[in-house]
Amino acid sequence: MEQYLSYAQRVSKKEYAAEPLILGIESSCDETCAAVIRGRELLSNAVLSSAAEQAKYGGVVPELASRAHTDAVGKAVFEALAQAGVRGEQLSAVAVTYGAGLLGALLVGLSFAKAYAFALGLPLIAVDHIRGHMAAAYLADTALEPPFITLLASGGHTAVLYTKSYTDFEILGSTRDDAAGEAFDKVARILGLPYPGGPSVEKLACEGKAQIPLPRMFAGNGYDFSYSGLKTAVLNYCHNKEQRGESYSRADVAASFQSAACGVLAERAVAAAKAKGCDTVAAGGGVIANGYLRELLAKECAREGLRLVLPEKKFCTDNAAMIAAEGLVQYRAGNFAPLTLNACAHIPLGKKGKQ
Ligand code: KG4
Ligand code: ZN
Repeated sequence: MEQYLSYAQRVSKKEYAAEPLILGIESSCDETCAAVIRGRELLSNAVLSSAAEQAKYGGVVPELASRAHTDAVGKAVFEALAQAGVRGEQLSAVAVTYGAGLLGALLVGLSFAKAYAFALGLPLIAVDHIRGHMAAAYLADTALEPPFITLLASGGHTAVLYTKSYTDFEILGSTRDDAAGEAFDKVARILGLPYPGGPSVEKLACEGKAQIPLPRMFAGNGYDFSYSGLKTAVLNYCHNKEQRGESYSRADVAASFQSAACGVLAERAVAAAKAKGCDTVAAGGGVIANGYLRELLAKECAREGLRLVLPEKKFCTDNAAMIAAEGLVQYRAGNFAPLTLNACAHIPLGKKGKQ
């Protein structure tokens, strides 16, 4: 995979020293995260996860997530500052996820961020979680500049976007029903695999062959996706086999599903880049951590002469580095939030949430 120059290696010492120092805080689901960046250079990244606790219940229990965030948010922030060797007073701004996500969970990170910013007299920046997933690419390749195509595949969204500038993008296509990550999670449940579903399906798929014919769900002629039919096809396949008392390979089901689910993502991203005349595809969101998808994207992009920017796997799933990265975009655009900022459970893609 391509190795990128770090930000500090790319810009002059003077420029680097003048870059804003941003603290990112993320608590929208089951991971309490804090990170510090200087410009597009990541200085630290702390993640305290309650996923193991949640796994006992087969999914995220919102109240447990909120309690875990309450215990962890201070630890995560002070760990991130210590790792970065930065004191709070040196920061330029505090960027925090205000939505979308679990309301109680969001409120923990948001309350901490507001109090911390107020105490130190720092500006507060409201970050949309999904814009954070898209901004992870800016840290992965610090030379990445719009325009480019963004493939977004997460638990709540699946879309192909034309990123025109750091603050302006056009949604070329999105899912008409389930998101790709949601489909992975539902298929994991059908196959009796543990939470979190995506990594469990990927692990099992490694032992199987993608030989079960499953529909590849393209919705319409544009760049839209549809995942509910694929999920239902998996469910019907397993039920039919069980009702007839026939044995089947769960690993083959996982591999066949993964191949169909990822195939459309890679195909649509490459087609969009060609149609828009872009030479770069960037990707973000939890599903982009999938090894099979990463290899497929690398292969398809290489075949078409496209540059691919993939954040490391740990920056595809939830983290605060991506929140700080989108915070930097908003900082440069002069978009600051008042201390009355509220959490917002739902934010439609491309819209501003109620603040
Ligand atoms: O991007 P994310 O944090 O979700 C939202 O912000 O909405 O990612 C979570 C999603 C889950 O649906 C999870 O199953 C999926 O990403 N995911 C994966 C993998 N790791 C996480 N899906 C497929 N393969 C993986 N390795
Ligand atoms: Zn996320």
